[in-house]
Amino acid sequence: MYQYSEEQLLSMKKVEESRSERLKNLFPRMTAEEKQAVLKENHPDYIESAYETLKIGPNKGEKVLHELADLLQGKSRVFGLDINLENPDYDVDVLVIGGGGAGASAAITAHANGAKVMMVTKLRIGDANTMMAEGGIQAADKENDSPAIHYLDAFGGGHFAAKKELLYKLVNEAPDAIKWLSDLGVMFDKDKDGNMITTHGGGTSRKRMHACKDYSGAEIMRTLRDEVLNRQIPVVDFTSAIEIIKDENGKCAGAVLMNMETKDILVVRAKAVVIATGGAGRLHYQEFPTSNHYGATADGLVLAYRAGAKLLYADTLQYHPTGAAEPTQIFGALVTEKVRSLGAQLVNKNGEAFVYSLETRDVTASTIIRECKKRNNGIKTTDGVGVWLDTPMIDIIGGEGTIEKRIPAMMRMFGKYGIDIRKEPILIYPTLHYQNGGIDISDNGESDVENLFVAGEAVGGIHGRNRLMGNSLLDIIVFGRNAGKFASLKVKDMDTPKGLTLKHVDDFEKTREQAGIKSEILSPKLLPNYTKQKSI
Ligand code: FUM
Repeated sequence: MYQYSEEQLLSMKKVEESRSERLKNLFPRMTAEEKQAVLKENHPDYIESAYETLKIGPNKGEKVLHELADLLQGKSRVFGLDINLENPDYDVDVLVIGGGGAGASAAITAHANGAKVMMVTKLRIGDANTMMAEGGIQAADKENDSPAIHYLDAFGGGHFAAKKELLYKLVNEAPDAIKWLSDLGVMFDKDKDGNMITTHGGGTSRKRMHACKDYSGAEIMRTLRDEVLNRQIPVVDFTSAIEIIKDENGKCAGAVLMNMETKDILVVRAKAVVIATGGAGRLHYQEFPTSNHYGATADGLVLAYRAGAKLLYADTLQYHPTGAAEPTQIFGALVTEKVRSLGAQLVNKNGEAFVYSLETRDVTASTIIRECKKRNNGIKTTDGVGVWLDTPMIDIIGGEGTIEKRIPAMMRMFGKYGIDIRKEPILIYPTLHYQNGGIDISDNGESDVENLFVAGEAVGGIHGRNRLMGNSLLDIIVFGRNAGKFASLKVKDMDTPKGLTLKHVDDFEKTREQAGIKSEILSPKLLPNYTKQKSI
């Protein structure tokens, strides 16, 4: 049994006492006006002091969080290095930067189209947010659903800001993405007749969440990684891209790489590059904990920005409503939305439900923050404050064994610390989960810089200003394949790039000086630095 504080135990009792009443009366959904109000007053995206205006680069004049501004306007790592652009270490058609689901999907597709492909990843292939995704992947492939309904859900959930052509592609190619994954070997949950089991996510009007228990991302990544290895696509691991290289015409023509251990520099000449570097949770915006993997430091955004690519919605982040708030060992770790899809309710210190469990993520997170900060209805935790997620409701609603069968990863994660989520509610608080914004692309996946493609979380605009659950595992597949397809088509009859140069990096440095930016912060960041926060 976990050692809860006395206050936590007293509050937990109230949660148990109110359970039967809460099972009878679901908390009502909010009106559009109520949602807007709770967002404006509580969502971290609205905290003006957390932002600053960019002084240089393609998004000059726009606001981004301080932590990102430091990196976008940071100093390149290439200065002072001996880099021989004339004699590249690797010569390929398509270079994929990033070892997650989007990168692997791009590499597989480009390779299947006959391109000479290489992947580079600063950790290992699979060390990525894809691997950590839990709840599932959306696709409208049931009779009562359609891509049009999927579109409407996602467009509304994203505050009508998604780039229409990207969202159109996302929802229309979703059923085929599921088929592609199934054919590659992903073991989706199925009923006894072999039909896919699907559930709701926040903001979905149909049950279209396909899952592999609550290990969905791990199962998908396992399959993609196998396919990359089976195809013998070269993967250079523990090596990061530190700058994009251009050709004499200003088109993307490769990348400078750095071995993470030896710091050796390598040059890749490539006819096209796909940035698939994922998100930014490890920048811990506004000091939030994160559900993201260790390497999520916005590197792709920095590389693309310095090369001249515009970002879209870089000011908007997703704070997943349910990060673990206790025990401290898993502070910020993802507690999948599927827990709420299966019936668990959010409950305050008095045992009262305070929000409909499947509002969209930004609304739910804002409501939790309000409950804790403004209404003082949170429960004190080791690292701050939280509210209850009443997990025992799942087995009451779905029958004994539902938790064990449908969310074994959650059971295991809390079970390690003596918390049995079948019997006790758990404490949660919003955690930094997803970068809604990123690099602006056209629907063929290309950025403003010719021959520089982007896929996955590094893209901005697919989801607008808020993403629905399960549309990220979907976008890494759809836009990973998309980038792989269009990059490989484009390079087919292309000559080897000539006149390789890093002049744009020198020019960017001059712009920094002209703008009076004196910061010596090196970017891309590559890895988080926790040494200042904790000494062991
Ligand atoms: O809650 C979750 O399982 C997360 C899913 C997602 O971000 O799509």
